[in-house]
Amino acid sequence: MEADGEQLCEAARNGDFEKVRALIDSGADVSYFDSNGLTPLMHAAKLGHADVVKALLEAGAPWNALSPSNLSAGDFAMDSGHQDAFEVLLNAGIQAELILGTIARKTEKDGDSNEDYLEDRVSFSEDKLMDSNSKAVMMAWEKPLMEAHAKAVCSGGGHILNIGFGMGLVDTAIQQYSPTKHTIVEAHPEVYERMLRNGWGERDNVKIVFGRWQDVLPQLESYDGIFFDTYGEYYEDMREFHQHLPKLLKPGGIYSFFNGLCGGNAFFHVVYCHLVSLELENLGYLVQLIPLPVKDCLGEEVWQGVRHKYWQLDTYYLPVCQSTQDSE
Ligand SMILES: C[S@@+](CC[C@H](N)C(=O)[O-])C[C@H]1O[C@@H](n2cnc3c(N)ncnc32)[C@H](O)[C@@H]1O
Repeated sequence: MEADGEQLCEAARNGDFEKVRALIDSGADVSYFDSNGLTPLMHAAKLGHADVVKALLEAGAPWNALSPSNLSAGDFAMDSGHQDAFEVLLNAGIQAELILGTIARKTEKDGDSNEDYLEDRVSFSEDKLMDSNSKAVMMAWEKPLMEAHAKAVCSGGGHILNIGFGMGLVDTAIQQYSPTKHTIVEAHPEVYERMLRNGWGERDNVKIVFGRWQDVLPQLESYDGIFFDTYGEYYEDMREFHQHLPKLLKPGGIYSFFNGLCGGNAFFHVVYCHLVSLELENLGYLVQLIPLPVKDCLGEEVWQGVRHKYWQLDTYYLPVCQSTQDSE
């Protein structure tokens, strides 16, 4: 079996389509990892052999297997600029996730379940908000991103909704645009208490709704701009939130969310950017993903004392979604 696997890796590297086919037909293991921890699919992707990539995927090769340096076949194709192989892998990833949603079971910032998190203590410091497992709920390096989100959701003025206060970065930025009204939903008791201590409850245009967004939906209205950034929730929870957008977002309004989907792997992130765009387009929104470089705000020191590096990419794709209905 091992010899077959090695031969498959070699044939994949050489782009020898016939040999790859013959080895697959004779039962060679398409999920084989060689001594460098690479699969035949990774070898083919790295060298841009799109036909071999396709044949391996059709034979059941795992599109999301990771090398020891946490790279998938799609990362190899992307990093080597092999567009054809990249697209075959991207389509395979999208199809697989549409059906199985395997990676979607990971939380946005990979915390514990939402209920556990909401019952646990959190700790605040100047540059982060941490849960009881030393996982970061929110970090100050995201400030420029939050400012960009605020700018997007406040572009039409009016009544703005933010789900998830965290460190208050996005809400502080939203306030700079002097919205007519600014509603904030926050579910963690300690975060809520801190908001009140810091005077958020006394601001004329601010309304705070304490509770999980799922539970307080009946108290919500419809808004000109909405931002969504919770913690400890799954992609499915965000998808459930999106189902409420037609009621929550006024025609012509702007919706944005923290786009940390699979932020630990560049290729998985691309797959999820496509999936979430497809999902929102199907709901009738025009979706733009605006690239923002984040490399400079993210030195190694940022992650000191943090258990999980929830973001490892150089570019952040800021989602701006506009309802395609007229605002009249
Ligand atoms: C990542 S932080 C938000 C950071 C915020 N965007 C900022 O600029 O500081 C997530 C926040 O969502 C809150 N949260 C988590 N689950 C929630 C839920 N189901 N409903 C409402 N808030 C929730 C958390 O307590 C936390 O304060």
